[in-house]
Amino acid sequence: MRDIHSFSRPDEVAVTHLILDLSVEFADHRLVGSATLKIDHIGPGELVLDTNDLAIGRVTLDSGKEVDHKLGEELKYLGRPLTIPIEASTRAVKIEYASKPGAAAVQWLEPRQTASGKFPFLFTQSQAILARTWVPCQDTPGVRMTYEATIRVPPALLAVMSAENPTKTNHDGVYHFKMPQPIPSYLLALAVGDLEFRSLGRNCGVYAEKPVIDAAAYELGDTQKMIDAAEKLYGPYRWGQYDVLVLPPSFPFGGMENPRLTFATPTILAGDRSLVNLVAHELAHSWSGNLVTNATWNDFWLNEGFTVYFERRIMEAVYGRDYSEMLARLGMQDLEDVVKEMGPENRNTHLLLDLRDKDPDDAANKLAYEKGYFLLRLIEETVGRERWDAYLRDYFERNAFRSMTTERFLEDLRAKLLSSVPGAEEKIQIEKWIRGPGIPANVPSVKSDAFQKVEEQVGAFEKGAAASSLKTKGWSTHEWIHFLRHLPKTLTQKQMEDLDRAFKFNGTGNSEILHEWLMQAIAHGYEPAYGSLEKFLQRQGRRKFLKPLYQKLAESDEGRKRALRIYEKARPTYHAVSRGTIDNILKWTERKEH
Ligand code: BES
Ligand code: ZN
Repeated sequence: MRDIHSFSRPDEVAVTHLILDLSVEFADHRLVGSATLKIDHIGPGELVLDTNDLAIGRVTLDSGKEVDHKLGEELKYLGRPLTIPIEASTRAVKIEYASKPGAAAVQWLEPRQTASGKFPFLFTQSQAILARTWVPCQDTPGVRMTYEATIRVPPALLAVMSAENPTKTNHDGVYHFKMPQPIPSYLLALAVGDLEFRSLGRNCGVYAEKPVIDAAAYELGDTQKMIDAAEKLYGPYRWGQYDVLVLPPSFPFGGMENPRLTFATPTILAGDRSLVNLVAHELAHSWSGNLVTNATWNDFWLNEGFTVYFERRIMEAVYGRDYSEMLARLGMQDLEDVVKEMGPENRNTHLLLDLRDKDPDDAANKLAYEKGYFLLRLIEETVGRERWDAYLRDYFERNAFRSMTTERFLEDLRAKLLSSVPGAEEKIQIEKWIRGPGIPANVPSVKSDAFQKVEEQVGAFEKGAAASSLKTKGWSTHEWIHFLRHLPKTLTQKQMEDLDRAFKFNGTGNSEILHEWLMQAIAHGYEPAYGSLEKFLQRQGRRKFLKPLYQKLAESDEGRKRALRIYEKARPTYHAVSRGTIDNILKWTERKEH
């Protein structure tokens, strides 16, 4: 089966192992060195690799023979196929190459973009199809390889990868890595900076810059509990160590499940551990995603829907059902919002996607996450938790280190679970979820008592109660988010002031609460918040926060002008992934041409 987002032909020749040797050149923003690929011949053919924006040098076979490679025509977001003629006896191919300064996966940070302000920093983000911008590879989630790497960095800096990692800086700046379990290319990852390591338990720890390490270690203090809970649910953690790397604020995602080393945004450091469901999520990918992997990006929900389900089960086990039900309620709301935005009949609201002629990055919205979650919850509620958990444990075991298509999952689910539970098929109507639009009528309902109480307070405020008189004592981040999202559609300036004064939203260090507040501030043209809005857009580059804020600003002429003014300054500090999204919203490239 071919992946429409890769030029590679793993059904003919498949890469099984990668040996990277790269020098990290901060001065000219290049990774320079070689990739040696070990291959298996499955059928006749040439070795075809994915590249995007790579400078390819000499290509040699393991026989020592230099061969003529061919770089094909460039296609939008897919890059160019690199075709290498091989012989029947060829077992390895060495490619000398360098990445370009604009490589989309890689962000090169100036010292001033880091916490210490003293050293440069680099990190990569390979998912979905950006690995090919820094490593020539078969860039499809349907192919797995083990890897080893030698990474050369300026002395004083530490390099870490999605592999077995050093915990201390060495003197010569040369680091060796090994990833003995086979992984797909989108999980290749590298970060280099002035990093420190702190152990958090038996098999977990955290990396961060020195000024951030204490806060990070506190925030992630429950990580070992999460690992223990996850293993109890769905079987052994297969990757040895589980660490989290807390990155500088321009990291474009909340988290990225790079094996053995989750990459995370520092915007989860709220000071009270209230945003650590993100860690539960990335940890859960160690099963759903990294162990059993979506075969193509059309099957993205197999990665993310399963992971949200698993995330909420971990949260339930560690923090209780009331807590995880708040998360589920917020998730339902995200799902309703995204379906409303796309339209209830939109093809892109099917779980099984059709990404022909589309960049898989365009599918990175909440649909796969939350519609996937609610389908799995429906199955759980239909067959009972005990049967469902047993099935899942067995599913991860049987399919470990393999890729999975939606079709094969459905077959497996029917054969191993649904067929033995009378009435289950009729009740779940799984085809309506997989190949049908919108939110099916049999979606499970989520009742949250905690949110009920929040809604009562919103009601009181609406009827004229002063903000300071509302009963908000003991509210968690999630209750505040629910509160802010459910405020009346129109608020007077006086009401905004009242809220601002009573709850000090403008000064909150909690990124999620600040984000919801700023959305309200833009919607109501509340000037006193624009200072903190501008600062927030400039001090972090997480796409989930940037996108709605810029979008909301762009709804009015005046707001759009403000957005462009801010973006002009902030754009150079954002990662390519975030830049791409915001360029689109603000029609940035068209603007530049005028
Ligand atoms: N794997 C995703 C991030 C991703 C998806 C990167 C698609 C590129 C393409 C990661 O596991 C994720 O879902 N992160 C979320 C956090 C989570 C708690 C929902 C994020 O970054 O917001
Ligand atoms: Zn995820």
